Parts: sequence; structure tokens; C-alpha cells
Amino acid sequence: DSALKIGIAGLGTVGAALAATLAERADYLAELCGRRIEVTAVSARDRNRRRGVDLSASEWFDDPVKLAREAEIDVFVELIGGDDDPAHAAVRTALARGCHVVTANKALLARHGVELARIAEENGVILNFEAAVAGGIPAVKVMRESLTGNRVRRVFGILNGTCNYILTTMEREGISFDECLAEAQRLGYAEADPTFDIGGHDTAHKLAILTSLAFGTEIAADDIYLEGIENISIEDIRAAADLGYRIKLLGVAQRTDTGIEQRVHPTMVPVSSEIAQVDGVTNAVAVEADVLGELMLSGPGAGGEATASAVMGDIADIAKSRPGAQRVPALGTPADRLAPYERAR
Ligand code: HSE
Repeated sequence: DSALKIGIAGLGTVGAALAATLAERADYLAELCGRRIEVTAVSARDRNRRRGVDLSASEWFDDPVKLAREAEIDVFVELIGGDDDPAHAAVRTALARGCHVVTANKALLARHGVELARIAEENGVILNFEAAVAGGIPAVKVMRESLTGNRVRRVFGILNGTCNYILTTMEREGISFDECLAEAQRLGYAEADPTFDIGGHDTAHKLAILTSLAFGTEIAADDIYLEGIENISIEDIRAAADLGYRIKLLGVAQRTDTGIEQRVHPTMVPVSSEIAQVDGVTNAVAVEADVLGELMLSGPGAGGEATASAVMGDIADIAKSRPGAQRVPALGTPADRLAPYERAR
């Protein structure tokens, strides 16, 4: 049987959208990938929740680590979230037994990414994580593949859909911070704990991953200067507008004379700039590199379907590759050549 067997752990907004999409276009994907993609195992906290997708053909596991250890799968898809167990244990377990892993978990990668990439490399399996940075935008592919050979000067962007939704909706509709946040939660953009969004932590996790990809450095999420948007008022936004600026929560990583500087904070950007046009839940990733020049990608940064699209692409990449034939970069760089992190002073 040449089908690629998938186990999905976590059936929230993204997991449910992924399962539904894989089922709905199973024949089409089989044609594109040259083999069928079958969801043979699933795991979530609540077995009885209605998810709008028929999962009765998949084996059910209450415990994602058990799924990772015992299910008959080729690929473990981790959509549990959180930088700790069970997500961490489940991903380690799956990689160690030779399963490929696809994850959307930026918090996990920001804390344990290099360790996990090493386990993947040791076991000759693939660790894909396109959905972990800027949702549907193919930022990881661009960093890992398209920019090969470039020396990156700077990478920056709007990396949290919830914050950008709040900031743009406050400006346009004049409604309060709290109302905008409640709406972002209702739309399924916000993290389970929304202080991760508005405090800038989610942006910092994604920036840490981007920095590692862009500069070939060890992930250093704890070294990021961090300020969220929780204290931004409508008055601040209006004052900035009067001066010809918009307030955006940016994540920035750049080379300086003393090393790689990483920071996350609300930033005034000129209304006429490209990044100021990025609206609502849309994210943007901008890169300045020596051979390429400047590039900005923008697109849906959060939401079940857009994120599921990135996960589906990662799974399809594995389905098309010959498992075991591919070297796994530790977030872009072979583990033995990771540059020590250059600290900014
Ligand atoms: N809560 C995140 C956001 C989801 O708002 O961007 C995508 O990582």
C-alpha cells in the first residue's frame, strides 16, 4: 500500500479544516502527489465535539503521545499547540520512531526547534513547519529555498493576525480594543490564551523562527526585546494618523555591527509605506537580501483554512518526496553548521 498515512493530533480550528480539506479533495491530491493521503489516526481532547467532518474511518486516540508512539502512520501532524508536553513529547516520539512531522506550532519550535530538527536529522525524516510562521504565507519556503545563497540584511513583518486585526479595526471603526479582540477570538484568529497575541509573544515565536532561517543562527526567542499592543488606545492611533503614520506590531531581525538584533514592538510606519497597507488579519513578511533586493509577501496570517492550506502543502511535499532521501535542515541550516547566536548589545 503506497498511501501516505497521516495522524492528526489536535482537531481545533486548523485540524478540523485540514481533515475536511484532505477528505474533500482526496482524489485530486492523489493525482498531484502520485499516492493517496489517508488520515488513519486522530487525537483531540473532546471526542464528541461536532467538527463538520467524518472521522469515523480514523483510529481515535485520547492521548496524542500514544498516537505518536503507536499509530500506524508515516506522518505525524501536530496541531495541539503549546511549547510543552504533550506537543513536545508527541513530536519527539514521532520523529524518534522515524515518522515525518508537520507542525504549525510556533511556540514549540521557538523553544525546542533546534533539538527537534536534530532528532529529525538523526532519524532521516522531515520536519516541516510552514504554517508556524505567518499562517498561509509561504515564508518558510522562501527563506529555506528561494533565498539560498543570499546574505539577508533584515527580515521584518506583521506576524500576528489578531493584533493587526485589532489595530486596523480600531482605526477604521473606532471601536474599543476589547471589542476588537472579542471579535478576533470569535473569528478563530486568536490563540487559546489571547495574551499570547496581544502581548507580542506569538509574534516573537514566529520572529525567532524567521531569524534562524534568515541568518542560520540558533533560535534565541528569549533574547527578543518584547512589547505588545495591550496599551495602545484609539487616541494613540488617531495621534499617529494625524502625523501621517499607522501603528503596526512589527517583528524585526537585522544584522548590526554587534550581531543580530531581534525586537517586537508597536511601530509607527508611514501611511504611504507598503507595510502600512496590510489590513485586518493579513500578515506580511518583508526581506532585504543582498542578491535579491527587497521583497514583501502578504497574505492570510491566521484562520483555520489558510493555516490548513500551509499544512496541506507541507504534507504534499512529503508525499511527493522519497522518504529518507532528504537531508533535514535544522531550521534551514544543517545542524553541524549552525552559527552560534550572535548577541546584540
Ligand atoms: N493567533 C495567531 C494570529 C494565529 O493571530 O496570528 C496564527 O499563528
